[in-house]
Amino acid sequence: MDIIDLDPADQRVTQETATLLAASLPAGWPDMDSARAEVTESVGPERISRIALGERGAVIGWVAARPEYAGRVWELHPLVVHPAHRRQGVGRALVEDLEAHVRARGGLTLWLGTDDEDGGTTLFGETLYPHPLDHLLGIRNLRNHPYEFYEKLGFVIAGVVPDANGRGRPDILMAKPMYDPEKRLGRR
Ligand SMILES: CC(C)(COP(=O)(O)OP(=O)(O)OC[C@H]1O[C@@H](n2cnc3c(N)ncnc32)[C@H](O)[C@@H]1OP(=O)(O)O)[C@@H](O)C(=O)NCCC(=O)NCCS
Repeated sequence: MDIIDLDPADQRVTQETATLLAASLPAGWPDMDSARAEVTESVGPERISRIALGERGAVIGWVAARPEYAGRVWELHPLVVHPAHRRQGVGRALVEDLEAHVRARGGLTLWLGTDDEDGGTTLFGETLYPHPLDHLLGIRNLRNHPYEFYEKLGFVIAGVVPDANGRGRPDILMAKPMYDPEKRLGRR
């Protein structure tokens, strides 16, 4: 497997990446027009957009990220792996590749939001107020929700946006430091 920059001038790659996105996350990208726009928009000097190529160069995964907070923080958005290639380390390889690029650009935090729109976790269908953090502490994975994939890669749950996708359908916020958190900050 190779991981390379997404080249928006390559129409085959753009088409395959958009097809993968629309098929994998239809709630966010319900049609090819919106998926193609997301793919095209992911590329630029301020962006990171990387694709995984399988045999014969087919696109089997895609990850992108954009800077925030003057580049100290990067948002991973989105990440998709072709269904036929899941649970084979492609997602991990894409995120690790992305982390190397974020570190190289001086990022301190990589974060993402992972929605629960269909009962993947115990947060679904709950009113998270007045103690959303209690719900996060007790979270359980009910149906292969990807938050556990990110935990395996070293991300932690850092917050939640209640009702982000409608009542009882939250967005779970996850973050990972791009440095060794065991190393203490020097005193200023
Ligand atoms: C989530 C996704 C990107 C994972 O990609 P993947 O290539 O299957 O993941 P990997 O094979 O690299 O998995 C790495 C580890 O996470 C685990 N894992 C993968 N998906 C998981 C899930 N849904 N729930 C729990 N654990 C999961 C793997 O078993 C593996 O564990 P191990 O290190 O103990 O062997 C992929 O399932 C996908 O594209 N899903 C649809 C789109 C999506 O949900 N994107 C994320 C939106 S925030």
